Amino acid sequence: MEITASAPGKVILFGEHAVVYRRPALAVPLNDLQATVTVTRVMGLPGEIQIEAPDIRLSTSLSALRGDHPLAAVIRGVFTTLGITRPPACTVRIASSIPVASGLGSGAAVSVALTRALSAFVGQPLPDEKVNALAFEAERLHHGTPSGIDNTVITYGKPVYFVKGQPVEHFKVGWPFTIVIGDTGIQSLTREAVADVRRAWENDPQQLEKVFDQVSIVVQEARQSIECGSISALGPLMDENHALLKQMGVSSLELDRLTETARRSGALGAKLSGGGKGGNMIALVELGDVDRVAGSLEAAGARRTIVSRIG
Ligand code: PMV
Repeated sequence: MEITASAPGKVILFGEHAVVYRRPALAVPLNDLQATVTVTRVMGLPGEIQIEAPDIRLSTSLSALRGDHPLAAVIRGVFTTLGITRPPACTVRIASSIPVASGLGSGAAVSVALTRALSAFVGQPLPDEKVNALAFEAERLHHGTPSGIDNTVITYGKPVYFVKGQPVEHFKVGWPFTIVIGDTGIQSLTREAVADVRRAWENDPQQLEKVFDQVSIVVQEARQSIECGSISALGPLMDENHALLKQMGVSSLELDRLTETARRSGALGAKLSGGGKGGNMIALVELGDVDRVAGSLEAAGARRTIVSRIG
């Protein structure tokens, strides 16, 4: 028997980092990028689980993984949730087209796909709330103090207006728009970027709270613009959000260079997306300008560009 499940990548459009401090953020799934998990029944003793994840050069048995390894935590979490102590012997194969450690949700997508595949494999598919909760626990191991936005947008596969600790709200996209995602090629750990912002906040809470409040206003305006389809208003809001992220200390020379390049080559606005310090930036681009902006980003050092139509 074999079961396969997939989950998309994601991009944060507005509000990263401030969202850790209970401000709202907007994120959308990226369906062109997927993590896929296949669970295959094999001969063997109950509880024997082999994990094959060639993208991260992992080939191991579950029993050899430490309890705080995110994959082990998800697998054990699924079986504990379902009250299964001796699952049938199986091989878990993990493949993903989502770049790792670059702010596109690779960790959360693997957790969601893994939870869905394993629970279906034992004949007890888990509902979305449970999938989301298990993926959040794995995010905690990846990130330390995650807001929960990644696992939420990836579990539900729809645009989310996310406020930590509040029920999930979805928003509609009034008119489709196009973003070009540019990868700095620099892997960066969200956990470290989040810890840097925490230190800055501890040093000067008033200043950082003010920045987070400004982000909050940008996010509200962006949600309205997206819902009414007034896309041109989004460009300046992206620029503003990028400037606020810079004030938090999570941009970098490369991210500043790529966002500036995007604007100069015709993007309506641009910002870093996700944890920052490396990883990806996004640019809002009119359809006719996509090739020019993507080409300029690559000429300015982007390792790869991805074009995504939102809505
Ligand atoms: O780097 P990513 O895409 O996983 O995004 C992290 C978003 C942060 O707001 C920086 C952290 C969080 O947990 O929300």
